[in-house]
Amino acid sequence: MRLDKMLSECTSESRSAIKKLIRQGRVTVNGVRAASPEQKIDETRDEVAVDGGIVPYKPFIYLILNKPEGYVSATEDKSERTVLELVPDEYKGRQLFPAGRLDKYTTGLMIITNDGRFAHEALSPKSHVKKTYIVGLSEPPTEDDVRAFREGVYIEGGYLTKSAELEITGDYEARVTISEGRYHQIKKMFGARGNRVVKLKRISFGGLKLPDDLSEGEVRELTAEEKERIFC
Ligand code: URA
Repeated sequence: MRLDKMLSECTSESRSAIKKLIRQGRVTVNGVRAASPEQKIDETRDEVAVDGGIVPYKPFIYLILNKPEGYVSATEDKSERTVLELVPDEYKGRQLFPAGRLDKYTTGLMIITNDGRFAHEALSPKSHVKKTYIVGLSEPPTEDDVRAFREGVYIEGGYLTKSAELEITGDYEARVTISEGRYHQIKKMFGARGNRVVKLKRISFGGLKLPDDLSEGEVRELTAEEKERIFC
């Protein structure tokens, strides 16, 4: 296997960061400075280290799920079905968890991983990863709502949300993009405007869109390129 591929599967670094680390001479294979990103290694036997720290060959897993209604975003729950129950058996025992949460009746794009650092980065407000939702509403959204969302809305607890983009897409439907992820944020934002969310679907996470060919309840691995798109 190529050295850069192994590092990309087993660390949270991007392909370009890995190439840079190798070029900077910070990566060793069996104690010898790595020659190039293309260098071939035997991932089952060779000892790869970055800045002297050994990187075990234990690839991280990044799954994308099109979440159906009725599942909670947890690894286990006493009374509810969890999104982890939708993950194929081959991934069991890999300490997977949902990166962020969607409410029980929210559907759409969800990432499931065992890479804590990646999840933290993707969810941290500092990363400004935008999330877009299609929202079904009990009342028609208005141009005043568009302006209010743009300026930020005071939600429960007196918190003023960051600027959000609201696009009216139908009589009772809107598309909303937020750059933070407070508990029940979309519901609370519409609640503050005297409206009620009756349907909610997440259609993108950063630059990653919910693939058209991923049906509800389906799970598959993200490609390296899709994973990087989250931060674009
Ligand atoms: N905002 C909500 O209110 N619910 C979700 O599931 C996601 C965002």
